[in-house]
Amino acid sequence: MSNPIPLDDQVIWLTGASSGIGEALTDALAPRCRALFISARSEDKLKPLAARHDNVIIATADITDEESLYKVAKIIDEKYGHLDTVIANAGTCEYVDVTDFDAALFRRVLDTNVMGLVNTTAAALPLLRKSERGYLIGVGSSVSMLAMPRAQAYGASKAAVAHFLESMKADLTAMNIDVSLVSPGFVKTPLTDVNDFPMPMRISAEKAADAIIDGIEKRHWHIHFPKTFTRILWFIGQLPAFLRHRITASMSRTDEALKQRHAQESDS
Ligand SMILES: NC(=O)c1ccc[n+]([C@@H]2O[C@H](COP(=O)([O-])OP(=O)(O)OC[C@H]3O[C@@H](n4cnc5c(N)ncnc54)[C@H](OP(=O)(O)O)[C@@H]3O)[C@@H](O)[C@H]2O)c1
Repeated sequence: MSNPIPLDDQVIWLTGASSGIGEALTDALAPRCRALFISARSEDKLKPLAARHDNVIIATADITDEESLYKVAKIIDEKYGHLDTVIANAGTCEYVDVTDFDAALFRRVLDTNVMGLVNTTAAALPLLRKSERGYLIGVGSSVSMLAMPRAQAYGASKAAVAHFLESMKADLTAMNIDVSLVSPGFVKTPLTDVNDFPMPMRISAEKAADAIIDGIEKRHWHIHFPKTFTRILWFIGQLPAFLRHRITASMSRTDEALKQRHAQESDS
């Protein structure tokens, strides 16, 4: 297989660029690549970001809306005729309360995190095939290493992301297209700023962006960080089920939620 195309020759498409990891990735990648197309729904947030770089092009899109992604692909095709790398980073997180189980929450999370990745891949793949050596990168989460409490929707979506990408890797190798899975631990972004539980070893979005670019340059299949955190999580995930379940049940807050619910019911 040929060597990867150097970053400074690459045309890249990044989704989820309007905040958090995507915003930090834009600032870190733009000075190092040929052209960077940035997508998200909030064009108002993409504008100041693009203004900081002369090779960043705004490509507003909703990853749950296939048509908006095909429009971006058409723009990239018309301007460059191919795409070297797509970084499917856009995603969402909602935690489940089993005392108030809501299927609509699952639809929202799975539609964005799973179908959003599939839709992005569908739009990008024909252009990646026109590159000398295409590269599909998806952002999963370290949560897929261990089935944590309240992560039934988010964790399931990111487990699907990991499975999808590994399966794509099996089929895309013959097309000279590389595939990587990114599994961050906790990163300080608007997505985690709302969390009301401890987030051990949380790192900045800038550090996350550096770790992702390092993995991209080396074309590592699995780009995970911070390593101490992801290795601990992976290790717990490999323990015998009875031990694993004891650990994750001890983290659950169902008792607390039940007490709150009883208190609300007796007040009303
Ligand atoms: N932060 C962490 O600790 C952490 C850990 C593991 C994995 N991750 C993953 O890392 C990725 C980035 O997360 P983040 O922490 O940087 O979160 P964030 O700051 O909330 O950013 C999420 C990005 O995704 C975009 N997005 C969400 N829904 C979209 C949609 N339907 N269409 C287009 N864009 C959409 C948002 O833009 P608009 O709202 O403008 O559309 C935003 O740019 C996600 O896939 C997340 O699951 C994060």
